[in-house]
Amino acid sequence: MTAVRPDIAPKPLPEAAAAFPPGFLWGAATAAYQVEGAAAEDGRTPSIWDTFSRIPGKVRNGDTGDIAADHYHRYRDDVALMKQLGLKAYRFSISWSRVQPTGRGPAVERGLDFYRRLVDELLEAGITPVATLYHWDLPQELEDAGGWPERTTAERFADYTALMTGALGDRVGTWTTLNEPWCSAFLGYGSGVHAPGRTEASSALRAAHHLNLAHGRAIEVLRGRLPAAAQTSVTLNLHQVRALTPSDEDADAARRIDAVGNRVFTGPMLHGAYPQDLLADTAHLVDWSKLVRDGDLAAISRPVDVLGVNYYTPTLVSTPAEGGGDTRDDGHGASDHSPWPGSEHVAFHLAEGKATTAMNWSIDPDGLHRLLMDVTRDHPGTPLMVTENGAAFDDYVSPEGRVQDPERIAYLHGHLDAVRRAVADGADVRGYFLWSLMDNFEWAYGYAKRFGAVYVDYASQRRIPKASAHWYADVIRRHALPP
Ligand code: NOJ
Repeated sequence: MTAVRPDIAPKPLPEAAAAFPPGFLWGAATAAYQVEGAAAEDGRTPSIWDTFSRIPGKVRNGDTGDIAADHYHRYRDDVALMKQLGLKAYRFSISWSRVQPTGRGPAVERGLDFYRRLVDELLEAGITPVATLYHWDLPQELEDAGGWPERTTAERFADYTALMTGALGDRVGTWTTLNEPWCSAFLGYGSGVHAPGRTEASSALRAAHHLNLAHGRAIEVLRGRLPAAAQTSVTLNLHQVRALTPSDEDADAARRIDAVGNRVFTGPMLHGAYPQDLLADTAHLVDWSKLVRDGDLAAISRPVDVLGVNYYTPTLVSTPAEGGGDTRDDGHGASDHSPWPGSEHVAFHLAEGKATTAMNWSIDPDGLHRLLMDVTRDHPGTPLMVTENGAAFDDYVSPEGRVQDPERIAYLHGHLDAVRRAVADGADVRGYFLWSLMDNFEWAYGYAKRFGAVYVDYASQRRIPKASAHWYADVIRRHALPP
């Protein structure tokens, strides 16, 4: 482990304008399958990502999360590194199949112990643990029983939530039910670029409803079992959708993508109803009157304390002329199947004149400002947390052993400034989590894409804080952006 450069001494506070509100929480995030490794240890059984990553052609270079960043064994050093960087919070996820291997029934104590130790280590270091219950790694047995398109999966999730509150409820104060359920539903069951790799438009919509229901049931469990001061939340990847031109056709493309990209979750969760236009756009795929049962919407709309938003890039759309445009290259991974059920005939575009990251995502900090302002307008009174933001670049270690990543620093600076502006403009943003603490398994891209503020040399598992990690540590110390 490399220490934080001592040559970055605290500097005098810059102008108040660049400062963040008191109590603004500075963190970094990871997810279990992306960092833990130890895939077959201490009773853990396969999740859908263990299965999917073994299917040839699904993950670049045939990579799997078997070892990943070996966080399961190295968490103590990783927490020490977080402390050196001055992080105030760590957002991690729990591997369901590590703590409840079949997705039902009794817990595996050895699995729970890992999270108890991790949380204790964090608390000892003065770092607030933020636990996500589901970051895409469904136990394979539950997928074998039908997965998220089946209603029973939501009930299993409520049981698993109860089990976790029993194990960690006394020491974790902030709980997130789901991470980016859009990806679980529409990349997992629609385009199939994520596990379990199914390409069934109607199953994707059913999955979305059952993820919503799982969230609602979990909130009920969390509220019933956690101390009153505990915070509940959900994290959504709200697409910052924009029409390419002001034409009616492009405006309609934006409306449809907003419906199946955003409002399919915010509608029931925050307003207790699915949007009428979504129901109409997808009526040929799903019988919503059967899918949504009495009481579901009341359960799904139980209030959360904080809404987590993840933002990387805006979503620029148009309605292509007959036969024209690539309707599938939407930045989420190429597939012959669309992850936008009911709205397949939409073309996706890069923002003109903007640089891109190694994911080929346009860099547009203003999109984060707009997103936070849009959410503030559409769901007033909802405290927000940026639970993920960051960028992949082609990082490498210099002969001197350093990783210089000026593009990532510029990306973070621009996006943090967007957060600060949104706060100044009235958005109630409580904190920011950089994605990611360290390089990790980037799903279908395997280890080819590096999002970390800390470089991971996978051969040796050595951690090297990149220049951006030192830069972020400096921001945290100042509680403000550098001048
Ligand atoms: C969102 C996901 O939550 C995370 O798992 C992923 O690595 C990042 N986006 C980057 O794609």
